[in-house]
Amino acid sequence: MHKVTINKVAKLVNSKSSTLLEAMETSGLKPEFNCRDGHCGACRCKLSSGEVEYIGFAMAYLKSDEILPCICRAKSDVQLEDVNIHNEILSAS
Ligand code: FES
Repeated sequence: MHKVTINKVAKLVNSKSSTLLEAMETSGLKPEFNCRDGHCGACRCKLSSGEVEYIGFAMAYLKSDEILPCICRAKSDVQLEDVNIHNEILSAS
């Protein structure tokens, strides 16, 4: 289990078998997504610290500090920023 911090506000844990997108959903967050397969880029966010591993091939365009949570698992404690969340408390920040 790794600790995941979302937009400096929400903290959750990521089991080894869940993607970061799944971990956010399991915790009650409503992150933006579409394809869930690394193609569309809708889930794109910034990895500000930590390491992730890809379980799929990233087809969407990414800057060097960005990841696709739908096809990534945490390899360490991670901090994600600029996650598009639909829950009101997080989207206001
Ligand atoms: S949901 Fe489409 S790339 Fe992640």
